[in-house]
Amino acid sequence: MSSQLRVAALLVVLLFLLERSSAQLNATFYSISCPNVSSIVRGVIQQALQSDARNGASLIRLHFHDCFVNGCDGSILLDNSGSIQSEKDAAPNANSTRGFDVVDDIKTALENSCPGVVSCADILALAAEASVSLAGGPSWNVLLGRRDSTTANQAGANTSIPSPFENLTEITAKFSAVGLDTTDLVALSGAHTFGRAQCRTFSSRLYNFSGSGNPDPTLNSSYLATLQQTCPQNGSSTTLANLDPTTPDTFDNNYFSNLENNQGLLLSDQELLSTSGAATISIVNNFSANQTAFFQSFAQSMINMGNISPLTGSSGQIRSDCKKVNGG
Ligand code: HEM
Repeated sequence: MSSQLRVAALLVVLLFLLERSSAQLNATFYSISCPNVSSIVRGVIQQALQSDARNGASLIRLHFHDCFVNGCDGSILLDNSGSIQSEKDAAPNANSTRGFDVVDDIKTALENSCPGVVSCADILALAAEASVSLAGGPSWNVLLGRRDSTTANQAGANTSIPSPFENLTEITAKFSAVGLDTTDLVALSGAHTFGRAQCRTFSSRLYNFSGSGNPDPTLNSSYLATLQQTCPQNGSSTTLANLDPTTPDTFDNNYFSNLENNQGLLLSDQELLSTSGAATISIVNNFSANQTAFFQSFAQSMINMGNISPLTGSSGQIRSDCKKVNGG
């Protein structure tokens, strides 16, 4: 090979590596352009928690529902418009996802300090971490550098986000479709250690489970009685129950001991332990016995989820209003 050819080949390899690295996220992405980004996000969330302790839970759920649809690209935040069919109207989100006002407050605070710099997709990732650590859970270095989509995918939101009525095989397949494994599924389900769920998401377990005429046999009987009081037959389908009946607003590993006590609220929660022979069982038991193991896995799995198909480099845009495409 002539030396000129060799230099050209080296250049091609270098360009390839550069391109690849620009498609990856990193923890210092805003260290020059918006050095206080994490504390700004955290400050707004602290405020929001004072008016409603549920807000942190609602924010991490937004990041999850964002990442499972076209990757972590802020698509869930777009409102309906001429070209956008909002993901907010998809079945898993309609009358359910919340916290959008807090995202807007964070965006306003960031635009004041570092205009045009921090993406809405990164706001969701940062808000998820701040919400977990403010509730007593682990902290981790959030990887950053995502950009915002100019499109939404309502149909994708209807098909890709797991439903509380699906069985473990179906839910595992939805995680696997975005590159997440069984440990990610169990660890991330541990986010149901805080926040609320509406009666309509679990009432099928309370009276006539799968047409049996009886409640779900995997429900602890005194927990069942409490839930039947909260969600009477013919009562309101939107009444709220705590996902974790023991420590509703704290991020801890009680979610997993609840499962061991047959106190999983959603069918999809209890299935992690009650599906016979499932690979999830030993992971649940480990996280129940060892909060440190849960926190470590949770942080790693949040990073894994946050890495789902981000837009980077010159793809997408930095929206100036999370609800709208720039200029739209
Ligand atoms: C494994 C599959 C999952 C299913 C089937 C599922 C389903 C649900 C459902 C039905 C609700 C209640 C919604 C309502 O009643 O309006 C809920 C709430 C919640 N989910 Fe999940 N979820 C899953 C995984 C996750 C993951 C991976 C996270 C985050 C890492 C998460 C975080 C939350 C939080 C924090 C809430 C409470 C939100 C609030 O209070 O506003 N979930 N989930």
